[in-house]
Amino acid sequence: MKPKVLAYMRVDDRVIEDLKEDFDVTTFSNEEYLDDPTFTKALQETEGIIGLALQVTKQLLDKAPKLKIVSNVSVGHDNLDLEELTKRNIMATNTPGVLDDTTADAVFGLMLSSARRISELDHHVKSGKWNISLQPDQYGIDVHHKTLGIIGMGSIGQAIAKRANLGFDMNILYHNRTRNKQAEEMYDATYCEKDDLLQQSDFVCLMVPATPETHHMISEREFKLMKPSAIFINGSRGSNVDEMALYHALKNKEIRAAGIDVFQQEPTDPSNPLLSLENIVTTPHIGSSTTECEYNMSKLAAENIKKGLRNEKPPTLLNESVLKNG
Ligand code: DGY
Repeated sequence: MKPKVLAYMRVDDRVIEDLKEDFDVTTFSNEEYLDDPTFTKALQETEGIIGLALQVTKQLLDKAPKLKIVSNVSVGHDNLDLEELTKRNIMATNTPGVLDDTTADAVFGLMLSSARRISELDHHVKSGKWNISLQPDQYGIDVHHKTLGIIGMGSIGQAIAKRANLGFDMNILYHNRTRNKQAEEMYDATYCEKDDLLQQSDFVCLMVPATPETHHMISEREFKLMKPSAIFINGSRGSNVDEMALYHALKNKEIRAAGIDVFQQEPTDPSNPLLSLENIVTTPHIGSSTTECEYNMSKLAAENIKKGLRNEKPPTLLNESVLKNG
């Protein structure tokens, strides 16, 4: 009998077909799967789970006694209780690397769109307001030759630095838990303390994972440190930013604008006050969502699950200690 695998949101159809050669795959493509009794039933028998953003809690794990591996189709893994998974000797994997360039492109899209007011002006053109000429105080601002502050210089941060340095002649500051010598040498990035970065940057770009330490790391105090002309970009996780503090900073023009791909709660409520502001550009958490990148993430996640269920080491295993225990 083939081992059972449960696939939920955002696993590419071609990858599901490929998995079916080795596994008995049950798919849940809608977001209501948590309330679906067949989902709970499938959990009882499954050895592997693959998908995006399932909250893997102690309670969920109690319902999945045969589980050997949880394969996230994302690099972020704040949806996983890693400690609990490790305690139960269950492998956890994510998809680093394959999304770096795609996510960096999306972050640049937000930077360009908020600096040059692209979505606002698109709206003007489409609603017949071409002739309402922009007043000088409504012009956008340049991105090139400005100072970009990147908080979180991991591999996505570094892909952003590459674009900024080689394509836009930007001056790059960064803050990270550890120094990134490669970014310093290849893209002329300068390490600095977080507060200095906030005070000196024209663009502040947040790229840190969501952890208890990074929760609301950008809040009222941090917005007050930024320049009134600063543009804030969040391409990481919504919980890293105090959304009400961002709202007030934008509303009171403490900063110029923001480009936001992620929200505290997703999907965000249409009544979220942030959405009523003109000086914010939003996208629905699509940093890594291109046709090519979604496929590559699914493929890597499938490779992880195949290896894991063959008792081999998955290529991007998060909790290596399960191998020692197993
Ligand atoms: C990631 O890979 O973490 C993306 O943000 C999708 O969740």
